[in-house]
Amino acid sequence: TPVRPDPDLLLAWYDRHRRTLPWRAPVGARADPYRVWLSEIMLQQTTVKAAGPYFLRFLERFPDVASLARAPLDDVLKLWAGLGYYSRARNLHACAQAVVALHGGRFPDTEAELLDLPGVGPYTAAAIAAIAFDRPAVVVDGNVERVMARLFAVEEPMPAAKPRLRRLAAEVAPVRRPGDYAQATMDLGATICTPKSPACALCPWDDPCRARAGGAPQTYPRKTAK
Ligand code: ADE
Repeated sequence: TPVRPDPDLLLAWYDRHRRTLPWRAPVGARADPYRVWLSEIMLQQTTVKAAGPYFLRFLERFPDVASLARAPLDDVLKLWAGLGYYSRARNLHACAQAVVALHGGRFPDTEAELLDLPGVGPYTAAAIAAIAFDRPAVVVDGNVERVMARLFAVEEPMPAAKPRLRRLAAEVAPVRRPGDYAQATMDLGATICTPKSPACALCPWDDPCRARAGGAPQTYPRKTAK
């Protein structure tokens, strides 16, 4: 019978290898929902490396959601220049104004309320709920899909496999430390369980991984022939 992936093994790995990123609170410190939201919006179509300097400039210029809300849109667009996808910057500004107008300047802590905000979709709502508020939301991005496809050797091709991968992610996710767990799965996908040549020897989930057992983990997630 297959071994179930143990979330505690991943969390222990995260405690040792956690990346220091500009939007991550220091260990033990409370996360700032504004920073978590800003980083997740930036990271939607931008790499961690490229987003870093933008994130720091934004934070310097707009240290909180109120300062961003009252800034002229043009200032926001200027600071965004280079990141692309300018609808993201417009939504960013609209979202800041909605948080001030509808929630008194505090980000709501439920996925349903977060989803109502401009530019916040299911992924971002779950990420903010988990990372900023430590709510047990299931956070599934491309990294997490790849990790699940490999752990369970899912043969169904993408994108049809997406609902199955989400169900698997929900089954594995712990109730304890949901924010750390969400970031741990992202870090695992970004640094160990990478698309082309995964570093299985360093993986805390090498034992339960059925794609690794099959000898070709890099061939997951499956894709339909073009
Ligand atoms: N990519 C998107 N969100 C991220 C996060 N919180 N940490 C690392 N990579 C990410």
